[in-house]
Amino acid sequence: MITKFTHGDPICTEATVLRLEPRAMADFPFEHRFEDGRFCFSFLMEPDDILYGLGEAPRGINKRGWIYQSYCSDDPFHTETKEALYAAHNFILLSGSRTFGLFIDFPARIRWDLGYTRQDTAEITVEGADLDIYLIEGGSPRDIVREFRAAIGQSYIPPFWAFGFQQSRWSYHNAEAADSVVAGHDAAGIPLDCVYLDIDYMDSYKDFTINETAFPDFASYVREKKEQGIHLIPIIDAGVKKENGYFLYEEGKAKGFFCKKADGSVFEAGVWPGVCAFPDFLDPEVRRWFGEKYKRLTDMGIDGFWNDMNEPALFYSVEGVENALDKAAALRGENLDLGRFFNLKDTFMGLSNSQDDYARIFHNINGKQVNHQRVHNLYGAGMTRAAGEYFERTFGRGKILMFSRASYIGAHRCSGIWFGDNHSWWSHILLDLKMLPSANMCGFLYCGADLGGFNENATRDLVLRFLALGVFTPLMRNHSALGTRDQEGYRFERPEDFRDVIQVRYRLIPYLYDTFVKASENNDMMFRPLSFDYPDDQIARECETQLMLGEECMIAPVYEQNASGRTVYLPEDMTFVKLSGERVEKQELSKGLHYVKVALNEVPLFIKKDRHIPLCKPAMRTKDLSPEGSIYI
Ligand code: GLC
Repeated sequence: MITKFTHGDPICTEATVLRLEPRAMADFPFEHRFEDGRFCFSFLMEPDDILYGLGEAPRGINKRGWIYQSYCSDDPFHTETKEALYAAHNFILLSGSRTFGLFIDFPARIRWDLGYTRQDTAEITVEGADLDIYLIEGGSPRDIVREFRAAIGQSYIPPFWAFGFQQSRWSYHNAEAADSVVAGHDAAGIPLDCVYLDIDYMDSYKDFTINETAFPDFASYVREKKEQGIHLIPIIDAGVKKENGYFLYEEGKAKGFFCKKADGSVFEAGVWPGVCAFPDFLDPEVRRWFGEKYKRLTDMGIDGFWNDMNEPALFYSVEGVENALDKAAALRGENLDLGRFFNLKDTFMGLSNSQDDYARIFHNINGKQVNHQRVHNLYGAGMTRAAGEYFERTFGRGKILMFSRASYIGAHRCSGIWFGDNHSWWSHILLDLKMLPSANMCGFLYCGADLGGFNENATRDLVLRFLALGVFTPLMRNHSALGTRDQEGYRFERPEDFRDVIQVRYRLIPYLYDTFVKASENNDMMFRPLSFDYPDDQIARECETQLMLGEECMIAPVYEQNASGRTVYLPEDMTFVKLSGERVEKQELSKGLHYVKVALNEVPLFIKKDRHIPLCKPAMRTKDLSPEGSIYI
């Protein structure tokens, strides 16, 4: 049963597709109050209760014991003491003494103190008083997720080829660089379907332009790659370069389509191209305008995109830099004692994504000027809808690959997400794993992390172990940052190990795609915490390093360096399968704890008793996969 409670005059986020008659907040069955224009509510938790949810967020599958913020944040340090990542997915689910789900449909900041201040209390503070809350009760945690997901509408399904392996790097600067990635994979026998074009394919980081020196005849190049079975996936950024004569900037300015300041002038801030203007994605007319610009690239044969920097990321504002420079100038020749030094340092460090800058942005919502801070979490989702809605209008559903960095529930209907700028850290294998079921609860099925880790140098074994988890994530993309060690599989010694792991992905694609489509069609989760399936099993309830996949499988990646395997918990008897290239090794294991050995070129998988999954023959491209010769394991 789902009940909607409304207070005031909420901004319409279009997160839900279900129309419900709202009840007054006075009927909301949790202790609540309005305080200084905020809505606060709380509930008690028993020691064994588990709190799930929040989609893309730091820390565990069980979110208890920390404070989280719903505030889409461009923060590349995903350490465990962070409170927010790039998304705002305002759904939580309590399981244990009581079972219920809560979705707070509210586009500004929400603070979730989930047992941080008081271990037994969840205290949620919504930074505003105009909001909708949905309470979902009845049935199991999985039933509650299904009911919630039905209310927010069916999840995006990408094209089949988007389940192929994808190789990225900031940046493959030109056609030769991209060619060498395809050649490198082909020579090593590593399957590949997509190569990414990061910001350098553009002319001076201007959206919907091509650097003609790097890609002299882009349309022919795209065609040539297609003939090799390779999709090129360009990035699109939220900020539009301020440059006279640049069509997008000129059009946006002339039509009044950029975000404004209080005085009505265009809000400007620096991102990759320098000073930029920001399309007002909250306005449907702007979304339509911006969405149609993707045509420039689809006309050249492009059929996949990643939308980036759409929290929006603001490196600096001109005002912020001026202020910092004035401050620095005033301190010239002074003795910088502790207070003054750190104040100066903080001024420069605080230039990026400054709350002062966000507060200076205004949107046009139904003709009304609305401050950005009231709708911050809708910005990236708006950009993604701009693209997704254009694709759907023009090509039909599921024809174009689309995923975004920032997101809000609702965007899951037209796009996937990736988990942003993680690190080449062992702990980030598990962070990726933990976000999968949480993101699924919130409707985001097509998702995954940068495999191998984005920031800093990766080791060969880390990339292999990361990939062995990525074999199962719908988005399987290796991506790394500028200046980091080369991270493509064929760049390391023994590239055949990478081939062995990625071939397993291709063998599993028919099964994974089918499981994905079923999850989307049934408003279900592709990945579940073990506790969803084994609610009475204490070890399963606490398990944070393994997941259920579909109805048949359990996954348990190796996530530590120098480990020849890992301890795994089997909540029932299962077949342990080691997959490597075309090799399949099976072992029956009984319920309980086991140490399983897994070599670097192997992918571990656990299949429930009396269940079977298909494995097809590997291929170098998804288009060459065929059911012929498939086996069941
Ligand atoms: C951002 C993105 C990253 C990309 C980089 C350059 O940091 O998250 O994936 O490589 O920008 O475009």
